[in-house]
Amino acid sequence: MARKLMRVVSAALALQIICAAQLMCPSDPNCVCGGTLAVELNCNIDGHIVKINLLPGIYINIKCENTTSLDYNKLPKCANNLSSFKSVSFKDCPLPKSSFKDVLTNMGVSKTMALIFQNARNLSGYFDRKHFSGLQDLTKLLLSINGVTHLPNNLFMDISKLTWLNIRSNSINLSEELFKPLERLETLEISHNHMTNISSNLFSHLSFLRKLSLWQSNVTWFSKDLFSGVDVLEELDLSSNGLNELPASIFKPLNKLKKLTLFSNKFSSLPENLFKNNYELETVVFLNNDVKLRDLPKNLFGNLPKLKQIYIQRSGIENVPYDVFANSSQVTNISLAYNDIKKLPEPIFNDQINLLELDLSFNRLKKLDPKLFSSLVRLERLDLSHNSLDIISGETFSSLLSLIYLNMEHNNLETISSYLFSNNKQRMSISFAYNRLTFEERKLINNTCEVKRFSPFKHTYNLHLLNLSHNSFKFTSKDWWTNGHEKLDISGNCITHLWGDEIRDEDYEILVKKPLHEVWISQNPMNCECRNHLFLDFLLSHPVTKIPDIDEIHCPRWAGEICYVKFIILISLLTTVGTLYGLIIILFLMHRKSINDALKKKFFALTHSSDSKHENTNVIIKYSDVDEEFVLKEVLPVLRTHKNLKIHTSPTKNSENAESFINNFTTCVKDIYKYKTLVVFSPNYLITTYSQVDIKKIHTAMMEADNTIHVFVDSGPENSVYAFLKDQRDIRTSIVWSEPNFWDKVVDKLTERIKDEECDTELGQKDQVFVDNAKESDISFSKLPEPNIYDLNALTHGQV
Ligand SMILES: *[C@@H]1O[C@H](CO)[C@@H](O)[C@H](O)[C@H]1NC(C)=O
Ligand SMILES: *[C@@H]1O[C@H](CO)[C@@H](O)[C@H](O)[C@H]1NC(C)=O
Ligand SMILES: *[C@@H]1O[C@H](CO)[C@@H](O)[C@H](O)[C@H]1NC(C)=O
Ligand SMILES: *[C@@H]1O[C@H](CO)[C@@H](O)[C@H](O)[C@H]1NC(C)=O
Ligand SMILES: *[C@@H]1O[C@H](CO)[C@@H](O)[C@H](O)[C@H]1NC(C)=O
Ligand SMILES: *[C@@H]1O[C@H](CO)[C@@H](O)[C@H](O)[C@H]1NC(C)=O
Ligand SMILES: *[C@@H]1O[C@H](CO)[C@@H](O)[C@H](O)[C@H]1NC(C)=O
Ligand SMILES: *[C@@H]1O[C@H](CO)[C@@H](O)[C@H](O)[C@H]1NC(C)=O
Ligand SMILES: *[C@@H]1O[C@H](CO)[C@@H](O)[C@H](O)[C@H]1NC(C)=O
Ligand SMILES: *[C@@H]1O[C@H](CO)[C@@H](O)[C@H](O)[C@H]1NC(C)=O
Repeated sequence: MARKLMRVVSAALALQIICAAQLMCPSDPNCVCGGTLAVELNCNIDGHIVKINLLPGIYINIKCENTTSLDYNKLPKCANNLSSFKSVSFKDCPLPKSSFKDVLTNMGVSKTMALIFQNARNLSGYFDRKHFSGLQDLTKLLLSINGVTHLPNNLFMDISKLTWLNIRSNSINLSEELFKPLERLETLEISHNHMTNISSNLFSHLSFLRKLSLWQSNVTWFSKDLFSGVDVLEELDLSSNGLNELPASIFKPLNKLKKLTLFSNKFSSLPENLFKNNYELETVVFLNNDVKLRDLPKNLFGNLPKLKQIYIQRSGIENVPYDVFANSSQVTNISLAYNDIKKLPEPIFNDQINLLELDLSFNRLKKLDPKLFSSLVRLERLDLSHNSLDIISGETFSSLLSLIYLNMEHNNLETISSYLFSNNKQRMSISFAYNRLTFEERKLINNTCEVKRFSPFKHTYNLHLLNLSHNSFKFTSKDWWTNGHEKLDISGNCITHLWGDEIRDEDYEILVKKPLHEVWISQNPMNCECRNHLFLDFLLSHPVTKIPDIDEIHCPRWAGEICYVKFIILISLLTTVGTLYGLIIILFLMHRKSINDALKKKFFALTHSSDSKHENTNVIIKYSDVDEEFVLKEVLPVLRTHKNLKIHTSPTKNSENAESFINNFTTCVKDIYKYKTLVVFSPNYLITTYSQVDIKKIHTAMMEADNTIHVFVDSGPENSVYAFLKDQRDIRTSIVWSEPNFWDKVVDKLTERIKDEECDTELGQKDQVFVDNAKESDISFSKLPEPNIYDLNALTHGQV
């Protein structure tokens, strides 16, 4: 709506301007007139280019290009009869010989409220009283000049209505006489100057001055009565000076002062009672102190009834006295960010009952007193990120009844109390990203190590954001998914299973009724497992749920589809097997419990396998069926003597589909556990598997295959591609048959820790056998581990 209005207004304005431009375009032999939004005149005056821009009644901008002298009398008449403008500006033009008034009259301007004179190059000549004579209506003046070393004391005599004066210059001496005529001055800004020593009465006549800025003026010293007489000053900016001390009574006369800005100075200490008389003080901004200001004086911001905002950042503060904010109960925002604070005294915020925002980020806090925040019942935002907190007591946030934003990123937290949020019922955004949280507790009970898992968010509902990214979680907790949060970020952890337990009916209902809106899951070692695919598909089946980083999960597209294909295949296998009653009975006897469970499930159910009893190095041997005899005779017997290796064979047939199916089938079924692949890579294998594939792709595929060992065996017809690949092999992941110590190397490589990014999973080390030879598929199915029955269920419900 507002946008629409804006568009209409600007269109109307543009139209008006265009009309005005057409009407107004002055004709002058030296100038070419144009412009659409405003009148634009390009003039050539005695070879000097002058560009004039104007909007009638509003502004005239005169810009000189490369001009050191200019005959101002030759400027065009921009307004036909004398008219008044709000502002006139000269950019990079030389000083006129006569007054600005004459120049303006000559151009058809009778009156202007503001005059801006900017010149980035050294001026030739000096400012003089005559330049401003006749401009008695002027209220604003900006002089931004270089190289002027002197402004005469009487310069402003004729422009005593000035309320706003801004002088930017790199070297002028300002005398007290200069400002004397400017009795109505309300805003004075002096910047980019060298004023190492300001005389004490410089501003004493400016009794209406409300805003004073001495920004970047190299004031390193001033007397303690610099501000005497400046009674109504409300805003003071002394930033970017070289100040290293302040007289204790410097601000004493300023009993109307509301805002003080003091950044980029060099204070090594501040006097006590600095703001004792500034009862109206509302805002103090104290940033980027160039030297370390270790301590703040006692009671610095105390007893200031109107104080609202305090920003003290990047100033090297280490110690904050307990009473620094005492009795200032209207404070709403405090930032002490980017300092070196290690400890905050317990009563420091005792009187800040109106505090809304507290930023303590980028300090060195190791601990928080449990009562530190006990008065802050209105606090909405708390930032404790980038500190060194390693523990946080359960009561710490219990008084923060209004908290809606909590940032604890980049600390060293390993554990947090389960009661931490028991009092906070707001719709919070909570981030614990970049800590070392696991939510696991290890205890020695009866001489065995037991791992207890808990979630401090069990009773925290409807969060706007729960950010647990970049921690050390190995598991997810059910409540993260089902407590009605809007966004969940669990990326960058060690999570293998998105959903740990089976989904019960009530969880299922909650997931459908209160779905998450956004979930981030990338950078977890999820290994493209079916159960994760199915869970993600289930989440995504809800129209409001999005997984923005799903593309970062590098699973081939088929990996998801195969989960469903697998289901169909398994069903057909089941049917085949079903004809063999005996087998079914054996199957039933072996898996009575799981099948019973399976039948009970009405809905989607997944299972838990991270703490499965089977912990083994499983080895899948892949080979061309032409090499079968070799594998059966030479490879299997030796490997089977190693008890900690469980062998599973997968012959490759000619048909590519069958091959990829068997691969995917075994992957999906088995990567519930970790496994390694041993490829019997021979010319035969090359032909069966890669007959149509480009050599570069084969090479890349071999290099990229994780947890895979290629054994080069020269069986089959001579093949130059094979010879090349053998020659270029990566010796870390491949071995040549009949190499010295061949079997030791093979077994070493097979028992090496399974590559699992940085996550230290407890899986995948011990014993387990499957045989997955396509010829024995029924048998292999009978030996599938129990959890697959749940998987099967999951599939059934996933499809529903
Ligand atoms: C300005 O004038 C000087 C010498 O007259 C010349 O070297 C320079 O290129 C000019 N600069 C521009 C931007 O015209
Ligand atoms: C300027 O022109 C406008 C209309 O064109 C007229 O109303 C106004 O009185 C003129 N002003 C002077 C000072 O002549
Ligand atoms: C301005 O004048 C100063 C000294 O008078 C000189 O050092 C400087 O180079 C001049 N700058 C320009 C841009 O002419
Ligand atoms: C400014 O004042 C200082 C000391 O009062 C003096 O040394 C310096 O020469 C003066 N500079 C100019 C440009 O007048
Ligand atoms: C301020 O003074 C320092 C040395 O005292 C000088 O290097 C710096 O250029 C000065 N800054 C300005 C803006 O004059
Ligand atoms: C600044 O000027 C005052 C008097 O004008 C003088 O007493 C004081 O010593 C000067 N300080 C510095 C640092 O030059
Ligand atoms: C706070 O105010 C009370 C009463 O106004 C006063 O007694 C007390 O000393 C003050 N505390 C501080 C630290 O100034
Ligand atoms: C002070 O904190 C409140 C609450 O977070 C916030 O809305 C407001 O913008 C903050 N004020 C300033 C000046 O930053
Ligand atoms: C430890 O073992 C004993 C005997 O087996 C049993 O009674 C006791 O409950 C166990 N304690 C725990 C904490 O499990
Ligand atoms: C979680 O925190 C990390 C670190 O600040 C950030 O990069 C990420 O974007 C956050 N996630 C969400 C969903 O805001």
